[in-house]
Amino acid sequence: MVTSYRETYFSKVLPVIAWVLVLLCLGAPVADSVAEEVNVYSGRKEALISPVLAAFTEETGIQVNLLTGKADQLRTRLEAEGRNSPADVLLTSDVANLYRATAAGLFQELDSDLLRKRIPSRYRDPNGRWYGLSIRARVIAYSKDRVSEFELSTYEDLADARWKGRVIVRSSSNVYNQSLIASMLWAHGASDTGQWIRGLVANMARKPQGGDTDQIRAVAAGEADLAIVNSYYYGRLLASERDQDRQVLGLVGMFFPNQDDRGTHVNISGAGITAHSGNRAEAVSLLEFLSGPLGQKLFADLNHEFPVNPEVAPSQIVSEWGSFKADSVALAKLGEFNGAAVRLADEQGWR
Ligand SMILES: [Fe+2]
Repeated sequence: MVTSYRETYFSKVLPVIAWVLVLLCLGAPVADSVAEEVNVYSGRKEALISPVLAAFTEETGIQVNLLTGKADQLRTRLEAEGRNSPADVLLTSDVANLYRATAAGLFQELDSDLLRKRIPSRYRDPNGRWYGLSIRARVIAYSKDRVSEFELSTYEDLADARWKGRVIVRSSSNVYNQSLIASMLWAHGASDTGQWIRGLVANMARKPQGGDTDQIRAVAAGEADLAIVNSYYYGRLLASERDQDRQVLGLVGMFFPNQDDRGTHVNISGAGITAHSGNRAEAVSLLEFLSGPLGQKLFADLNHEFPVNPEVAPSQIVSEWGSFKADSVALAKLGEFNGAAVRLADEQGWR
């Protein structure tokens, strides 16, 4: 007997297809939960971010794969990987780095009601390509022996001749200083800012060298009387259990400049979703978690920063500094001024 094609199809092939479909459906939920993951490229050091990511995984079940590196390296890597990049989220410090990644087309836009509600507009990109997650202030560290707090006022004043040979600050190749210069450009324009840089350089006790903690230690050691540093470096010394760090703090005070005018220059650590993210939903969950109560608390406290979400209280150490007035400029503006800030620092001899 000849079996028609039609008979064979219905008697043999169809049941096989049906079974495959049943197995696929049964397997689907398992496969999904295994696949829920998000890949993070982080300029923030592992010790400062891992506990936050672990809390995220515990709350959502989403696995996080972390790659840490310097901001420039991560940006170069993302550019080289292009659409093959496994990264879903790029996390980095300072709006200058966030702006460069944006300009290189590395982020995609994200419109999240929750993020907009939790993060004040001046700490996020107007197009949702990056969102600030923590705030740091660029403060003046001063010698308690040789300077009275009442002699201090503004960044502008650091260019006054009475501070000749008494001020230190790291190189202008560092983004923190570039963003500070950008904030001066925003407030005063190029000519006055150039003059300020000239005065500051003339007052330097030594050529720019080292990081912010090195500047604080140098003030304690008597190499200079004033330094410009990010607040969390001071916070790290406060949290330290080493005797020599405690001694440094006995000798060095922290001052928030420009309280009587535009406010102290602040910056952010922040993140955005990469242009070619393959796990967009998980990436959105991560950003929303980082902006929420638990995420904010862990993210800010681990590095002694201010939470960006005004509903979340700062750590014990940070709240002891008291409240201060922050410059209200939208940080995206400072990103736009980054190129001009770098050129001006170069022209005026801030190495
Ligand atoms: Fe830093």
